[in-house]
Amino acid sequence: MAHGPPVSQSPKVNQDVDEDIAMAAPSLKIRRLAGALGAEITGLDLAQELPDATIAAVRQALVEHQVVVFRDQDLTPAQQARFGARFGPLNIHPYVAGMADHPEVMEVIKEPQDKVNFGGGWHSDMSFLERPAIGSILYAVEVPAFGGDTLFASQAAAYEALSPGLRATLETLSAVHSASREYSAGGHSAQKRSSMAIAEADGLAGEYVHPVVLTHPESGRKALYVNPAFTIRIEGWTKRESKALLDFLFAHARYEAFTCRFEWRKGSVAFWDNRSVWHFALNDYPGQRRHMRRVTVDPWPVTAAARRSRVAETVT
Ligand code: SIN
Repeated sequence: MAHGPPVSQSPKVNQDVDEDIAMAAPSLKIRRLAGALGAEITGLDLAQELPDATIAAVRQALVEHQVVVFRDQDLTPAQQARFGARFGPLNIHPYVAGMADHPEVMEVIKEPQDKVNFGGGWHSDMSFLERPAIGSILYAVEVPAFGGDTLFASQAAAYEALSPGLRATLETLSAVHSASREYSAGGHSAQKRSSMAIAEADGLAGEYVHPVVLTHPESGRKALYVNPAFTIRIEGWTKRESKALLDFLFAHARYEAFTCRFEWRKGSVAFWDNRSVWHFALNDYPGQRRHMRRVTVDPWPVTAAARRSRVAETVT
């Protein structure tokens, strides 16, 4: 018996796009990981300075598959930052300290004695900012003997599985996001641990409004853009009203058929698109160490010319 909502195969995920990518960058091979999202890219050494065509192909694969993974990489923090910076300016996390000599590289560490992990709940990175990160690139330095996988959920597939009626309603709504719950005292991310220096939000986190349905600026594909960690209410609705809708969306959005699961090995890299993907770091390896490094890619700054053309579009 089938459980859960139907999953439509997106017309955007198709063989032609992967063939276009293969033509642009012949060394690069793409193998899909699951029905809704995810692909493994082979044939690339991310430590090298890659040609523009290869970077464009990786970007196209990311937009297409929403999360792309690489195996057997060997990256210094500087090489990881250089690769990430090809996709946009790198974010300096407002609460989590970066490396002393690379503030844009964040170490995600769980020591054997730590009880909580970082990222151990469904979320989309940095949706609590005015201009949220477009992607995150995580590199495995040390992995536990078992456990510590990361789950990903396609919010595009989640959106597409809703009825036309609810999709149309959601498109009229915006939601308020804030770091306050997660990074305030007692919040999951701010909990004390021996491994990471994380500041408390201290009531200063700020609130930012984003559409509930985000149209991907590169693919035009629509996706749900609310998440349990950072979305605190629907704009203009009470907390009680918001909770009813958000609880439904949060339960729907993590239906198994929208997900894929990545089992890390030392040297693995995952690059996910925060505009259409949730992720969840599993905390199922007590007593073991897990050490990752993350760079987070911000959107390019909006240029004055782009701003002018947007205004022109609105007024014509
Ligand atoms: C994160 O949320 O960035 C951490 C993901 C992970 O460690 O798997």
